[in-house]
Amino acid sequence: MNAPASNSIAARNSHAPSQTLVHAGISGLGHRVPDRVLSNADLEKMVDTSDEWIRSRTGIEERRIVGEGETLADLCENAAREALRNADLSALDLDLIIVATSTPDNLFPSTAATVQHALGARCGAFDMEAACSGFVYALIVASQFIATGAMKNVLVIGGEVMSRFVDWTDRNTCILFGDGAGAAVVSATGEGFGLLGFDLGADGGGGELLHCAISPNENSNGKIFQSGREVYKFAVHQMGESAVRALNSCGLKGDDVDVLVPHQANIRIIESAAKRLGMPMEKVFVNLQKYGNTSAATIPIALSEACAQDRIKSGDTVVLVGFGAGLTWASAVLKWG
Ligand code: ACO
Repeated sequence: MNAPASNSIAARNSHAPSQTLVHAGISGLGHRVPDRVLSNADLEKMVDTSDEWIRSRTGIEERRIVGEGETLADLCENAAREALRNADLSALDLDLIIVATSTPDNLFPSTAATVQHALGARCGAFDMEAACSGFVYALIVASQFIATGAMKNVLVIGGEVMSRFVDWTDRNTCILFGDGAGAAVVSATGEGFGLLGFDLGADGGGGELLHCAISPNENSNGKIFQSGREVYKFAVHQMGESAVRALNSCGLKGDDVDVLVPHQANIRIIESAAKRLGMPMEKVFVNLQKYGNTSAATIPIALSEACAQDRIKSGDTVVLVGFGAGLTWASAVLKWG
C-alpha cells in the first residue's frame, strides 16, 4: 500500500456535482436480514474465541446467516420491495437496478437481473463490485443518471451473503461477517437537497491485505483472507480522511454533519472516524452489534434502520462513509429531503 499515491488518487476523485441540472436524493429505503442468528456464544463452540474478546475488539454481539436455500437475490428482492413501498413507487417506475455485491449467487446472470425479473421491473440491471465501499460507489453512479436527466428512478442495492465465503475454522475472520441486504431508490429531489459531494478512491496496491479467490488455488483456499491489523490501520486513516474530503468538496466540515452512517466493520474504527470529524458518538448510527460486517450491505441497512427510527430528519446533513477490499473507500454527503 502506498499512502502518498492513494492520497493523490483520492484528491482527484472528490467532487461536488456543481454542474448538476437535476438533484439526486434518496426517496425510499428498505432492508432485509436473514432470520437465523449466529451469536458470539455460538462461535465459542466453533472456534477458540470468547464473547468478551469479540465484543471488546469489534463491538459485534451477533450476526445473521442465510438459511438453507436462501439466496442473495431473495434478500435483495425483499429489501427492494420495502424501498419501493417507502418511495411510493412500483417496480415499473424503475429505470435501472444496480446491485453492489462481492458475493453474488452466480458469476452470471447478475444478481441485479434476477432481482429485476423477481420485482417485475422492465429496466436495465447490472452488478458492480467495490467490496464494502460498493453501496456508496453505486449510489454515486446512480446519481449521475438522475443528474443528467437521463433517468428518474434508480434502485441501488447493497447485498451480501458473506457466510458462503467465510472460513468457519479461522477465528481471525469468522467472527466478523454476516449476511443481509439494504436498498435505496434514488430519484430527483429539490434544489439544495440530495447528493452534495462525494469522494471515491482505490489503492489496488493493498489488494493482498483482504482477498477472496474465486476458487481455491496455491495461494488461497477460496475463502476470505484478511491481514486484520493492516486493514485496521488503513481503515482508521482512510475512513476519517475520505469523509473530510467529501465534506470539503461541498464546502462543509465535521460540525455541519447531523448524522454519520459509517461502514459497520468495527466499533473502534467508527469511533476513530467520528473523532477525526470532531463528532460526538450520539451523531453516529451504529448497528454492528446486531449484524456484524455485511460488507456492501452495512450502510444501506444502517440508513434504512436510522430512518425507520427517526434518527434522520428532513434537512439533516448525512455523511455515508465506507472502506473495504480493493483497497477501496467512498464517502457521500447528502442533504436529506
Ligand atoms: N478470538 C480470540 N483471539 C483472537 C481472535 C478471536 N476471534 N482473533 C484473533 N485473536 C488473537 C490473535 O491470534 C492474536 O493473538 P496473539 O497476540 O497471540 O498472536 C490476538 O488475538 C490479537 O490479534 P490482532 O489481530 O492483533 O487483534 P486486533 O486487535 O487487531 O483485532 C480485528 C482483530 C478485530 C480483526 C481487527 O484487526 C480489525 O477489526 N481489523 C479490521 C477489519 C475490518 O474492518 N475489515 C474490513 C473488511 S471490509 C471488506 O471489504 C470485507
